[in-house]
Amino acid sequence: MLLHIPTAILAFASSVLATNPIKRQGANFVDADTGARFEIIGIDYQPGANAGFNPGADPLSDSETCLRDAIVMQQLGVNTIRVYNLDPTVSHDECASIFNAAGIYMLLDVNTPTFALNSEAPYTTYTGAYLTHIFQVVEAFSGYPNLLGFVAGNENINDIPSGLINPPYVKAVIRDLKNYIAKNIDREIPVGYAAAQINQTLVDQWNYFRCSTTGQDNDPAIADFFALNSYSWCGESSFQQAGYDILVKDFASTNTPMFFGEYGCNQFTGAVDGGPRPFTEVASLYGEQMRGVFSGGLVFEYTQETNSFGLVKVNNDKSLTLRQDFINLQNQYNKLDIKQVTASNGTATSQAAPKCAASLITQGLTKNFTLPAVPDNGTDLINNGVTVPSPPKTVSLTSTALPAAVTNVQGSKENWTLKQLSNDESNEPSGNTAGGAGSGSSGSSSGSGSSSSNMAMPTAMPRVAGLVAGSLFMGAMVL
Ligand SMILES: *[C@@H]1O[C@H](CO)[C@@H](O)[C@H](O)[C@H]1NC(C)=O
Ligand SMILES: *[C@@H]1O[C@H](CO)[C@@H](O)[C@H](O)[C@H]1NC(C)=O
Ligand SMILES: *[C@@H]1O[C@H](CO)[C@@H](O)[C@H](O)[C@H]1NC(C)=O
Ligand SMILES: *[C@@H]1O[C@H](CO)[C@@H](O)[C@H](O)[C@H]1NC(C)=O
Ligand SMILES: *[C@@H]1O[C@H](CO)[C@@H](O)[C@H](O)[C@H]1NC(C)=O
Repeated sequence: MLLHIPTAILAFASSVLATNPIKRQGANFVDADTGARFEIIGIDYQPGANAGFNPGADPLSDSETCLRDAIVMQQLGVNTIRVYNLDPTVSHDECASIFNAAGIYMLLDVNTPTFALNSEAPYTTYTGAYLTHIFQVVEAFSGYPNLLGFVAGNENINDIPSGLINPPYVKAVIRDLKNYIAKNIDREIPVGYAAAQINQTLVDQWNYFRCSTTGQDNDPAIADFFALNSYSWCGESSFQQAGYDILVKDFASTNTPMFFGEYGCNQFTGAVDGGPRPFTEVASLYGEQMRGVFSGGLVFEYTQETNSFGLVKVNNDKSLTLRQDFINLQNQYNKLDIKQVTASNGTATSQAAPKCAASLITQGLTKNFTLPAVPDNGTDLINNGVTVPSPPKTVSLTSTALPAAVTNVQGSKENWTLKQLSNDESNEPSGNTAGGAGSGSSGSSSGSGSSSSNMAMPTAMPRVAGLVAGSLFMGAMVL
Protein backbone atom coordinates (compact mmCIF):
# COMPACT_ATOMS: atom_id res chain seq x y z
CA MET A 1 0.00 0.00 0.00
CA LEU A 2 1.41 3.32 -1.08
CA LEU A 3 -0.98 5.56 0.71
CA HIS A 4 1.56 7.57 2.67
CA ILE A 5 3.37 8.98 -0.33
CA PRO A 6 2.27 12.18 -2.10
CA THR A 7 1.05 10.34 -5.15
CA ALA A 8 -1.51 8.52 -3.07
CA ILE A 9 -4.46 10.39 -4.47
CA LEU A 10 -3.33 9.74 -8.03
CA ALA A 11 -2.64 6.12 -7.26
CA PHE A 12 -6.14 5.97 -5.97
CA ALA A 13 -7.48 7.61 -9.09
CA SER A 14 -6.97 4.43 -11.05
CA SER A 15 -9.00 2.51 -8.54
CA VAL A 16 -11.96 4.82 -9.06
CA LEU A 17 -12.92 2.47 -11.85
CA ALA A 18 -13.86 -0.28 -9.46
CA THR A 19 -16.28 -2.01 -11.78
CA ASN A 20 -16.10 -3.01 -15.41
CA PRO A 21 -19.11 -2.09 -17.55
CA ILE A 22 -21.69 -4.82 -18.16
CA LYS A 23 -23.31 -5.42 -21.53
CA ARG A 24 -25.84 -7.82 -22.97
CA GLN A 25 -24.53 -10.71 -25.03
CA GLY A 26 -27.33 -12.91 -26.31
CA ALA A 27 -29.26 -14.22 -23.32
CA ASN A 28 -26.58 -13.22 -20.80
CA PHE A 29 -25.12 -10.16 -19.18
CA VAL A 30 -21.35 -10.19 -19.49
CA ASP A 31 -18.47 -8.10 -18.23
CA ALA A 32 -17.69 -5.91 -21.25
CA ASP A 33 -13.94 -6.15 -20.58
CA THR A 34 -13.43 -9.79 -19.58
CA GLY A 35 -16.44 -11.49 -21.17
CA ALA A 36 -17.25 -13.26 -17.90
CA ARG A 37 -20.92 -13.91 -17.28
CA PHE A 38 -22.57 -11.55 -14.80
CA GLU A 39 -25.25 -12.86 -12.43
CA ILE A 40 -27.34 -10.31 -10.58
CA ILE A 41 -27.23 -10.75 -6.80
CA GLY A 42 -29.39 -7.79 -6.08
CA ILE A 43 -31.65 -5.80 -3.85
CA ASP A 44 -34.37 -3.26 -4.56
CA TYR A 45 -33.45 0.07 -3.02
CA GLN A 46 -36.10 2.69 -2.39
CA PRO A 47 -35.65 4.08 1.13
CA GLY A 48 -38.79 5.94 2.14
CA ALA A 49 -40.76 4.16 -0.62
CA ASN A 50 -42.52 6.63 -2.90
CA ALA A 51 -42.16 9.34 -0.27
CA GLY A 52 -38.37 8.97 -0.55
CA PHE A 53 -38.60 10.64 -3.93
CA ASN A 54 -39.21 14.34 -4.32
CA PRO A 55 -38.00 16.65 -7.04
CA GLY A 56 -34.54 17.61 -5.83
CA ALA A 57 -33.99 14.50 -3.70
CA ASP A 58 -33.94 10.83 -4.61
CA PRO A 59 -32.38 7.64 -3.16
CA LEU A 60 -29.05 8.39 -4.90
CA SER A 61 -28.67 12.03 -3.88
CA ASP A 62 -27.67 11.80 -0.20
CA SER A 63 -24.08 10.62 0.22
CA GLU A 64 -24.26 9.75 3.94
CA THR A 65 -27.25 7.51 3.40
CA CYS A 66 -25.58 5.88 0.41
CA LEU A 67 -22.32 5.29 2.29
CA ARG A 68 -24.17 3.73 5.24
CA ASP A 69 -26.19 1.51 2.93
CA ALA A 70 -23.33 0.52 0.62
CA ILE A 71 -21.35 -0.66 3.67
CA VAL A 72 -24.29 -2.73 4.89
CA MET A 73 -25.08 -4.12 1.42
CA GLN A 74 -21.46 -5.10 0.93
CA GLN A 75 -21.72 -7.26 4.04
CA LEU A 76 -25.02 -8.66 2.82
CA GLY A 77 -23.26 -9.77 -0.36
CA VAL A 78 -25.14 -8.02 -3.17
CA ASN A 79 -23.62 -6.80 -6.43
CA THR A 80 -26.60 -4.78 -7.74
CA ILE A 81 -29.23 -2.32 -6.54
CA ARG A 82 -32.40 -1.41 -8.40
CA VAL A 83 -33.62 2.17 -7.85
CA TYR A 84 -37.09 3.16 -9.03
CA ASN A 85 -37.55 6.92 -8.93
CA LEU A 86 -34.77 9.28 -9.95
CA ASP A 87 -34.46 13.00 -10.55
CA PRO A 88 -32.02 13.58 -13.44
CA THR A 89 -31.56 17.23 -12.51
CA VAL A 90 -29.64 16.59 -9.27
CA SER A 91 -26.08 15.28 -8.87
CA HIS A 92 -25.60 11.58 -8.14
CA ASP A 93 -21.79 11.65 -8.29
CA GLU A 94 -21.18 10.81 -4.65
CA CYS A 95 -23.71 7.99 -4.32
CA ALA A 96 -22.85 6.43 -7.68
CA SER A 97 -19.15 6.59 -6.80
CA ILE A 98 -19.74 4.99 -3.39
CA PHE A 99 -21.61 2.06 -4.93
CA ASN A 100 -18.99 1.84 -7.67
CA ALA A 101 -16.18 1.64 -5.12
CA ALA A 102 -18.17 -1.03 -3.27
CA GLY A 103 -18.49 -3.13 -6.45
CA ILE A 104 -22.25 -2.65 -6.63
CA TYR A 105 -24.00 -2.01 -9.97
CA MET A 106 -27.11 0.15 -10.47
CA LEU A 107 -30.20 -0.94 -12.40
CA LEU A 108 -32.32 2.16 -12.83
CA ASP A 109 -35.95 2.74 -13.71
CA VAL A 110 -36.37 5.73 -16.01
CA ASN A 111 -39.93 6.51 -14.88
CA THR A 112 -41.18 8.52 -11.89
CA PRO A 113 -44.66 9.22 -10.54
CA THR A 114 -44.62 12.40 -12.67
CA PHE A 115 -43.09 10.97 -15.83
CA ALA A 116 -44.56 7.58 -16.70
CA LEU A 117 -46.87 6.06 -19.28
CA ASN A 118 -50.45 6.06 -18.05
CA SER A 119 -51.48 2.44 -18.47
CA GLU A 120 -55.09 3.33 -19.23
CA ALA A 121 -54.20 5.82 -21.97
CA PRO A 122 -50.49 5.52 -22.82
CA TYR A 123 -50.85 7.71 -25.91
CA THR A 124 -51.67 10.73 -23.70
CA THR A 125 -48.35 10.42 -21.87
CA TYR A 126 -46.00 9.32 -24.66
CA THR A 127 -44.89 12.89 -25.44
CA GLY A 128 -41.85 15.07 -26.05
CA ALA A 129 -41.86 16.12 -22.40
CA TYR A 130 -41.78 12.45 -21.34
CA LEU A 131 -38.95 11.63 -23.76
CA THR A 132 -37.02 14.67 -22.51
CA HIS A 133 -37.21 13.25 -18.97
CA ILE A 134 -36.16 9.69 -19.81
CA PHE A 135 -33.31 10.85 -22.04
CA GLN A 136 -32.14 13.10 -19.20
CA VAL A 137 -32.07 10.03 -16.96
CA VAL A 138 -29.80 8.39 -19.55
CA GLU A 139 -27.52 11.45 -19.60
CA ALA A 140 -27.50 11.70 -15.80
CA PHE A 141 -26.27 8.12 -15.25
CA SER A 142 -24.53 6.76 -18.33
CA GLY A 143 -21.17 8.19 -17.26
CA TYR A 144 -20.95 5.84 -14.28
CA PRO A 145 -19.13 2.56 -14.97
CA ASN A 146 -21.38 0.71 -12.53
CA LEU A 147 -24.56 1.51 -14.43
CA LEU A 148 -26.00 -1.92 -15.31
CA GLY A 149 -29.02 -0.86 -17.32
CA PHE A 150 -32.31 0.98 -17.58
CA VAL A 151 -35.78 -0.37 -16.84
CA ALA A 152 -37.99 1.25 -19.49
CA GLY A 153 -41.24 0.13 -17.89
CA ASN A 154 -42.34 -1.62 -14.71
CA GLU A 155 -45.58 -3.61 -14.62
CA ASN A 156 -47.28 -1.50 -17.30
CA ILE A 157 -49.22 -4.68 -18.09
CA ASN A 158 -51.03 -5.63 -14.90
CA ASP A 159 -54.12 -7.42 -16.18
CA ILE A 160 -55.64 -8.59 -19.46
CA PRO A 161 -57.11 -5.22 -20.61
CA SER A 162 -53.84 -3.34 -20.01
CA GLY A 163 -52.08 -5.99 -22.11
CA LEU A 164 -54.21 -5.00 -25.06
CA ILE A 165 -53.09 -1.35 -25.20
CA ASN A 166 -49.71 -0.86 -23.51
CA PRO A 167 -47.20 -3.17 -25.21
CA PRO A 168 -46.65 -1.06 -28.39
CA TYR A 169 -45.93 2.02 -26.26
CA VAL A 170 -43.52 0.28 -23.89
CA LYS A 171 -41.72 -1.33 -26.82
CA ALA A 172 -41.55 2.11 -28.47
CA VAL A 173 -39.93 3.51 -25.30
CA ILE A 174 -37.33 0.71 -25.40
CA ARG A 175 -36.70 1.56 -29.08
CA ASP A 176 -36.32 5.28 -28.32
CA LEU A 177 -33.99 4.74 -25.35
CA LYS A 178 -31.78 2.38 -27.36
CA ASN A 179 -31.70 4.77 -30.31
CA TYR A 180 -30.80 7.60 -27.93
CA ILE A 181 -27.98 5.58 -26.36
CA ALA A 182 -26.62 4.44 -29.73
CA LYS A 183 -26.52 8.03 -30.96
CA ASN A 184 -25.33 9.88 -27.84
CA ILE A 185 -23.57 7.51 -25.42
CA ASP A 186 -20.23 5.88 -26.08
CA ARG A 187 -21.01 2.46 -24.65
CA GLU A 188 -23.75 -0.15 -24.78
CA ILE A 189 -26.27 0.00 -21.95
CA PRO A 190 -28.95 -2.69 -21.61
CA VAL A 191 -32.58 -1.47 -21.73
CA GLY A 192 -35.48 -3.75 -20.84
CA TYR A 193 -38.83 -4.33 -19.18
CA ALA A 194 -39.91 -5.59 -15.73
CA ALA A 195 -43.12 -7.61 -15.86
CA ALA A 196 -45.75 -8.31 -13.25
CA GLN A 197 -46.47 -12.01 -12.96
CA ILE A 198 -49.70 -12.07 -14.96
CA ASN A 199 -49.42 -15.80 -15.62
CA GLN A 200 -51.89 -15.98 -18.47
CA THR A 201 -49.99 -13.59 -20.74
CA LEU A 202 -46.48 -13.91 -19.35
CA VAL A 203 -45.12 -15.91 -22.30
CA ASP A 204 -46.91 -13.56 -24.70
CA GLN A 205 -45.27 -10.58 -22.98
CA TRP A 206 -41.83 -12.17 -23.17
CA ASN A 207 -42.37 -12.85 -26.88
CA TYR A 208 -43.67 -9.34 -27.50
CA PHE A 209 -40.67 -7.62 -25.95
CA ARG A 210 -37.95 -10.00 -27.20
CA CYS A 211 -39.10 -10.13 -30.81
CA SER A 212 -37.66 -8.14 -33.69
CA THR A 213 -40.03 -5.93 -35.67
CA THR A 214 -37.61 -5.98 -38.59
CA GLY A 215 -36.52 -9.59 -38.40
CA GLN A 216 -32.96 -8.41 -37.75
CA ASP A 217 -31.10 -8.87 -34.48
CA ASN A 218 -30.10 -5.19 -34.41
CA ASP A 219 -33.67 -3.90 -34.14
CA PRO A 220 -33.59 -1.35 -31.27
CA ALA A 221 -37.10 -2.42 -30.23
CA ILE A 222 -35.74 -5.78 -28.94
CA ALA A 223 -35.63 -5.66 -25.13
CA ASP A 224 -32.15 -6.27 -23.71
CA PHE A 225 -33.75 -8.07 -20.79
CA PHE A 226 -37.10 -9.36 -19.62
CA ALA A 227 -37.32 -9.16 -15.84
CA LEU A 228 -40.08 -10.78 -13.83
CA ASN A 229 -41.35 -9.47 -10.51
CA SER A 230 -42.03 -12.84 -8.90
CA TYR A 231 -43.66 -13.48 -5.53
CA SER A 232 -44.66 -17.12 -5.97
CA TRP A 233 -42.09 -18.64 -3.55
CA CYS A 234 -43.60 -18.09 -0.10
CA GLY A 235 -41.94 -19.42 3.05
CA GLU A 236 -40.49 -22.93 2.75
CA SER A 237 -41.56 -23.61 -0.82
CA SER A 238 -39.88 -25.55 -3.62
CA PHE A 239 -38.85 -25.33 -7.27
CA GLN A 240 -42.07 -27.11 -8.27
CA GLN A 241 -44.44 -25.62 -5.71
CA ALA A 242 -43.40 -22.07 -6.56
CA GLY A 243 -43.83 -22.75 -10.27
CA TYR A 244 -40.17 -22.02 -11.01
CA ASP A 245 -40.12 -25.25 -13.05
CA ILE A 246 -42.72 -23.70 -15.38
CA LEU A 247 -40.68 -20.52 -15.77
CA VAL A 248 -37.55 -22.45 -16.69
CA LYS A 249 -39.48 -24.57 -19.20
CA ASP A 250 -41.29 -21.59 -20.74
CA PHE A 251 -38.24 -19.38 -21.12
CA ALA A 252 -35.52 -21.94 -21.87
CA SER A 253 -35.07 -20.67 -25.43
CA THR A 254 -34.72 -17.03 -24.47
CA ASN A 255 -32.61 -14.76 -26.66
CA THR A 256 -32.56 -11.99 -24.06
CA PRO A 257 -31.47 -12.10 -20.38
CA MET A 258 -34.11 -13.05 -17.80
CA PHE A 259 -33.95 -12.28 -14.09
CA PHE A 260 -36.23 -11.54 -11.15
CA GLY A 261 -36.71 -7.76 -10.98
CA GLU A 262 -38.27 -8.27 -7.54
CA TYR A 263 -38.72 -11.35 -5.38
CA GLY A 264 -39.36 -12.22 -1.74
CA CYS A 265 -42.97 -13.13 -0.92
CA ASN A 266 -43.79 -12.08 2.65
CA GLN A 267 -47.15 -13.80 3.06
CA PHE A 268 -46.80 -17.32 4.36
CA THR A 269 -47.96 -19.44 7.27
CA GLY A 270 -46.27 -18.22 10.42
CA ALA A 271 -45.15 -14.86 9.05
CA VAL A 272 -45.28 -12.06 11.59
CA ASP A 273 -45.05 -8.54 10.19
CA GLY A 274 -43.98 -9.99 6.83
CA GLY A 275 -41.26 -12.23 8.16
CA PRO A 276 -38.83 -13.48 8.90
CA ARG A 277 -38.54 -14.82 5.37
CA PRO A 278 -36.30 -17.89 5.03
CA PHE A 279 -35.16 -16.94 1.48
CA THR A 280 -34.79 -20.57 0.51
CA GLU A 281 -35.53 -19.54 -3.10
CA VAL A 282 -31.97 -18.19 -3.31
CA ALA A 283 -30.57 -21.73 -3.58
CA SER A 284 -33.03 -22.49 -6.35
CA LEU A 285 -32.60 -19.25 -8.31
CA TYR A 286 -28.79 -19.59 -8.40
CA GLY A 287 -28.79 -23.38 -8.57
CA GLU A 288 -28.25 -25.68 -11.52
CA GLN A 289 -31.90 -25.86 -12.50
CA MET A 290 -32.35 -22.12 -13.01
CA ARG A 291 -29.07 -20.34 -13.56
CA GLY A 292 -28.79 -21.40 -17.18
CA VAL A 293 -31.95 -19.45 -17.98
CA PHE A 294 -32.07 -16.77 -15.25
CA SER A 295 -29.31 -14.26 -14.54
CA GLY A 296 -30.19 -13.98 -10.85
CA GLY A 297 -32.54 -11.46 -9.29
CA LEU A 298 -33.21 -8.65 -6.83
CA VAL A 299 -34.83 -9.07 -3.42
CA PHE A 300 -37.64 -6.70 -2.54
CA GLU A 301 -36.50 -4.65 -0.63
CA TYR A 302 -33.75 -3.07 1.46
CA THR A 303 -35.66 -0.86 3.90
CA GLN A 304 -38.67 -1.69 6.02
CA GLU A 305 -41.64 0.34 4.80
CA THR A 306 -45.36 0.09 5.55
CA ASN A 307 -45.73 -3.05 3.41
CA SER A 308 -43.14 -4.93 5.54
CA PHE A 309 -40.65 -6.22 2.98
CA GLY A 310 -37.59 -4.73 4.68
CA LEU A 311 -34.23 -6.28 5.52
CA VAL A 312 -33.27 -3.29 7.65
CA LYS A 313 -35.19 -0.70 9.64
CA VAL A 314 -34.12 2.92 9.34
CA ASN A 315 -34.47 4.77 12.64
CA ASN A 316 -35.25 8.46 13.07
CA ASP A 317 -31.59 9.32 13.75
CA LYS A 318 -30.56 7.55 10.51
CA SER A 319 -29.11 4.60 12.41
CA LEU A 320 -30.09 1.14 11.13
CA THR A 321 -31.40 -1.95 12.84
CA LEU A 322 -30.91 -5.22 10.96
CA ARG A 323 -33.95 -7.50 10.81
CA GLN A 324 -33.83 -11.29 10.92
CA ASP A 325 -34.65 -11.21 7.18
CA PHE A 326 -31.21 -9.65 6.63
CA ILE A 327 -29.48 -12.48 8.50
CA ASN A 328 -31.46 -15.17 6.69
CA LEU A 329 -30.72 -13.70 3.27
CA GLN A 330 -27.05 -13.20 4.13
CA ASN A 331 -26.80 -16.85 5.17
CA GLN A 332 -28.46 -18.01 1.94
CA TYR A 333 -26.07 -15.90 -0.16
CA ASN A 334 -23.12 -17.28 1.79
CA LYS A 335 -24.06 -20.81 0.75
CA LEU A 336 -23.72 -20.01 -2.96
CA ASP A 337 -20.71 -21.12 -4.92
CA ILE A 338 -20.20 -17.86 -6.76
CA LYS A 339 -17.52 -19.22 -9.08
CA GLN A 340 -19.84 -21.92 -10.28
CA VAL A 341 -22.75 -19.50 -10.63
CA THR A 342 -20.85 -17.01 -12.79
CA ALA A 343 -18.97 -19.63 -14.78
CA SER A 344 -22.12 -21.33 -16.01
CA ASN A 345 -23.08 -20.10 -19.45
CA GLY A 346 -26.69 -19.46 -20.31
CA THR A 347 -28.31 -22.22 -22.29
CA ALA A 348 -29.44 -20.03 -25.13
CA THR A 349 -26.68 -17.57 -25.92
CA SER A 350 -26.87 -18.04 -29.67
CA GLN A 351 -30.64 -17.76 -30.15
CA ALA A 352 -31.67 -15.07 -32.61
CA ALA A 353 -34.66 -12.86 -31.88
CA PRO A 354 -37.85 -14.24 -33.41
CA LYS A 355 -39.52 -11.97 -35.94
CA CYS A 356 -42.56 -10.29 -34.41
CA ALA A 357 -45.70 -12.03 -35.66
CA ALA A 358 -49.24 -12.65 -34.46
CA SER A 359 -48.39 -16.35 -34.14
CA LEU A 360 -46.11 -15.54 -31.17
CA ILE A 361 -49.12 -14.32 -29.20
CA THR A 362 -51.53 -17.04 -28.06
CA GLN A 363 -52.97 -16.10 -24.67
CA GLY A 364 -54.63 -12.71 -25.02
CA LEU A 365 -51.94 -10.02 -25.33
CA THR A 366 -52.22 -7.52 -28.19
CA LYS A 367 -50.99 -8.80 -31.57
CA ASN A 368 -50.37 -5.27 -32.80
CA PHE A 369 -46.66 -4.84 -33.52
CA THR A 370 -47.02 -1.47 -35.22
CA LEU A 371 -45.20 0.79 -32.78
CA PRO A 372 -46.24 4.42 -32.38
CA ALA A 373 -44.07 6.97 -34.17
CA VAL A 374 -41.67 9.06 -32.06
CA PRO A 375 -43.81 12.00 -30.85
CA ASP A 376 -43.26 15.77 -30.90
CA ASN A 377 -39.61 16.86 -30.74
CA GLY A 378 -38.47 13.29 -29.90
CA THR A 379 -36.47 12.74 -33.09
CA ASP A 380 -34.59 16.02 -32.55
CA LEU A 381 -33.85 14.98 -28.97
CA ILE A 382 -32.38 11.69 -30.20
CA ASN A 383 -30.34 13.37 -32.92
CA ASN A 384 -29.07 16.32 -30.88
CA GLY A 385 -29.01 14.94 -27.34
CA VAL A 386 -30.37 16.50 -24.15
CA THR A 387 -28.42 18.10 -21.32
CA VAL A 388 -28.54 17.77 -17.55
CA PRO A 389 -27.32 20.30 -14.95
CA SER A 390 -24.79 17.86 -13.42
CA PRO A 391 -23.23 15.56 -16.02
CA PRO A 392 -22.01 12.40 -14.27
CA LYS A 393 -18.44 12.07 -13.07
CA THR A 394 -16.88 9.61 -10.68
CA VAL A 395 -15.36 11.10 -7.52
CA SER A 396 -13.04 9.52 -4.98
CA LEU A 397 -14.06 8.67 -1.45
CA THR A 398 -12.30 10.20 1.51
CA SER A 399 -14.18 8.28 4.16
CA THR A 400 -15.04 4.62 4.34
CA ALA A 401 -16.47 4.60 7.87
CA LEU A 402 -20.09 4.00 8.79
CA PRO A 403 -21.69 7.44 9.19
CA ALA A 404 -24.47 6.01 11.40
CA ALA A 405 -24.76 3.15 13.86
CA VAL A 406 -25.83 -0.30 12.64
CA THR A 407 -27.32 -2.59 15.28
CA ASN A 408 -27.61 -6.32 14.67
CA VAL A 409 -30.36 -8.66 15.84
CA GLN A 410 -28.44 -9.40 19.06
CA GLY A 411 -28.55 -5.71 19.88
CA SER A 412 -24.83 -5.02 19.46
CA LYS A 413 -23.22 -2.59 17.05
CA GLU A 414 -21.58 -3.74 13.84
CA ASN A 415 -18.05 -2.53 13.19
CA TRP A 416 -18.00 -2.37 9.40
CA THR A 417 -16.22 -0.17 6.88
CA LEU A 418 -16.48 0.16 3.12
CA LYS A 419 -14.05 -2.10 1.30
CA GLN A 420 -13.02 -0.51 -1.99
CA LEU A 421 -12.66 -3.15 -4.66
CA SER A 422 -10.11 -3.20 -7.42
CA ASN A 423 -10.92 -2.59 -11.04
CA ASP A 424 -12.38 -5.81 -12.25
CA GLU A 425 -14.25 -6.84 -9.12
CA SER A 426 -17.87 -6.74 -8.17
CA ASN A 427 -19.07 -7.42 -4.67
CA GLU A 428 -19.73 -10.99 -3.56
CA PRO A 429 -21.27 -12.69 -0.54
CA SER A 430 -18.99 -11.90 2.39
CA GLY A 431 -19.02 -15.24 4.16
CA ASN A 432 -19.79 -13.37 7.36
CA THR A 433 -22.93 -13.32 9.46
CA ALA A 434 -24.03 -10.05 11.02
CA GLY A 435 -23.66 -10.40 14.76
CA GLY A 436 -21.86 -13.71 14.25
CA ALA A 437 -18.29 -14.91 14.45
CA GLY A 438 -17.67 -14.95 10.74
CA SER A 439 -18.80 -18.31 9.46
CA GLY A 440 -22.02 -17.79 7.60
CA SER A 441 -23.37 -21.20 6.84
CA SER A 442 -24.50 -23.14 9.80
CA GLY A 443 -26.17 -26.29 8.64
CA SER A 444 -25.70 -27.91 5.29
CA SER A 445 -26.12 -26.19 1.98
CA SER A 446 -29.51 -26.71 0.46
CA GLY A 447 -28.28 -25.33 -2.84
CA SER A 448 -29.26 -27.47 -5.74
CA GLY A 449 -26.14 -26.28 -7.51
CA SER A 450 -23.24 -27.90 -5.77
CA SER A 451 -22.59 -30.23 -2.94
CA SER A 452 -18.92 -29.63 -2.31
CA SER A 453 -17.49 -26.94 -0.09
CA ASN A 454 -19.20 -23.88 -1.38
CA MET A 455 -18.53 -21.25 1.20
CA ALA A 456 -17.78 -18.03 -0.60
CA MET A 457 -14.50 -16.53 0.50
CA PRO A 458 -14.33 -12.83 1.13
CA THR A 459 -12.70 -11.31 -1.93
CA ALA A 460 -13.22 -7.70 -1.10
CA MET A 461 -9.74 -6.47 -0.29
CA PRO A 462 -9.49 -3.30 1.75
CA ARG A 463 -7.62 -1.42 -0.90
CA VAL A 464 -7.61 2.02 0.62
CA ALA A 465 -7.81 2.04 4.36
CA GLY A 466 -7.67 5.05 6.60
CA LEU A 467 -8.15 7.79 4.08
CA VAL A 468 -8.48 11.37 5.20
CA ALA A 469 -11.41 11.76 7.49
CA GLY A 470 -13.66 14.76 7.32
CA SER A 471 -15.66 15.55 4.27
CA LEU A 472 -16.67 12.49 2.36
CA PHE A 473 -15.28 13.51 -0.97
CA MET A 474 -12.55 15.49 -2.52
CA GLY A 475 -11.37 15.72 -6.03
CA ALA A 476 -13.36 14.75 -9.04
CA MET A 477 -12.21 12.65 -11.89
CA VAL A 478 -13.87 12.81 -15.23
CA LEU A 479 -13.87 9.42 -16.86
C1 LIG B 1 -39.65 18.79 -26.25
O1 LIG B 1 -40.99 19.21 -26.38
C2 LIG B 1 -41.75 19.20 -25.16
C3 LIG B 1 -43.16 19.61 -25.49
O2 LIG B 1 -43.74 18.65 -26.30
C4 LIG B 1 -41.14 20.13 -24.14
O3 LIG B 1 -41.84 20.02 -22.92
C5 LIG B 1 -39.69 19.75 -23.93
O4 LIG B 1 -39.08 20.68 -23.08
C6 LIG B 1 -38.95 19.71 -25.26
N1 LIG B 1 -37.60 19.22 -24.98
C7 LIG B 1 -36.53 19.97 -25.17
C8 LIG B 1 -35.22 19.37 -24.78
O5 LIG B 1 -36.59 21.07 -25.67
C1 LIG C 1 -48.87 -17.51 -11.08
O1 LIG C 1 -48.27 -18.78 -10.96
C2 LIG C 1 -47.59 -18.98 -9.74
C3 LIG C 1 -46.86 -20.30 -9.82
O2 LIG C 1 -47.75 -21.32 -10.10
C4 LIG C 1 -48.55 -18.89 -8.59
O3 LIG C 1 -47.89 -19.09 -7.37
C5 LIG C 1 -49.19 -17.52 -8.60
O4 LIG C 1 -50.16 -17.41 -7.60
C6 LIG C 1 -49.84 -17.23 -9.95
N1 LIG C 1 -50.23 -15.85 -9.97
C7 LIG C 1 -51.45 -15.49 -10.33
C8 LIG C 1 -51.71 -14.02 -10.28
O5 LIG C 1 -52.30 -16.27 -10.70
C1 LIG D 1 -18.84 -20.46 -21.79
O1 LIG D 1 -18.84 -20.17 -23.18
C2 LIG D 1 -17.58 -19.78 -23.68
C3 LIG D 1 -17.76 -19.37 -25.14
O2 LIG D 1 -18.63 -20.23 -25.82
C4 LIG D 1 -16.59 -20.95 -23.51
O3 LIG D 1 -15.33 -20.56 -23.97
C5 LIG D 1 -16.51 -21.28 -22.02
O4 LIG D 1 -15.69 -22.41 -21.84
C6 LIG D 1 -17.89 -21.59 -21.46
N1 LIG D 1 -17.79 -21.75 -20.01
C7 LIG D 1 -18.38 -22.76 -19.38
C8 LIG D 1 -18.16 -22.81 -17.90
O5 LIG D 1 -19.05 -23.59 -19.95
C1 LIG E 1 -51.59 -0.58 -33.56
O1 LIG E 1 -51.00 0.34 -32.68
C2 LIG E 1 -50.70 1.59 -33.28
C3 LIG E 1 -49.99 2.44 -32.23
O2 LIG E 1 -48.83 1.81 -31.83
C4 LIG E 1 -51.98 2.25 -33.75
O3 LIG E 1 -51.66 3.46 -34.40
C5 LIG E 1 -52.72 1.33 -34.70
O4 LIG E 1 -53.97 1.89 -35.00
C6 LIG E 1 -52.91 -0.02 -34.06
N1 LIG E 1 -53.48 -0.94 -35.05
C7 LIG E 1 -54.61 -1.61 -34.81
C8 LIG E 1 -55.08 -2.53 -35.91
O5 LIG E 1 -55.23 -1.50 -33.77
C1 LIG F 1 -13.50 -2.45 15.15
O1 LIG F 1 -12.58 -2.20 14.10
C2 LIG F 1 -11.37 -1.63 14.54
C3 LIG F 1 -10.55 -1.28 13.29
O2 LIG F 1 -10.56 -2.32 12.37
C4 LIG F 1 -10.65 -2.60 15.47
O3 LIG F 1 -9.47 -2.00 15.94
C5 LIG F 1 -11.56 -2.92 16.63
O4 LIG F 1 -10.97 -3.88 17.45
C6 LIG F 1 -12.91 -3.42 16.14
N1 LIG F 1 -13.79 -3.61 17.25
C7 LIG F 1 -14.51 -4.69 17.41
C8 LIG F 1 -15.42 -4.69 18.60
O5 LIG F 1 -14.47 -5.63 16.65
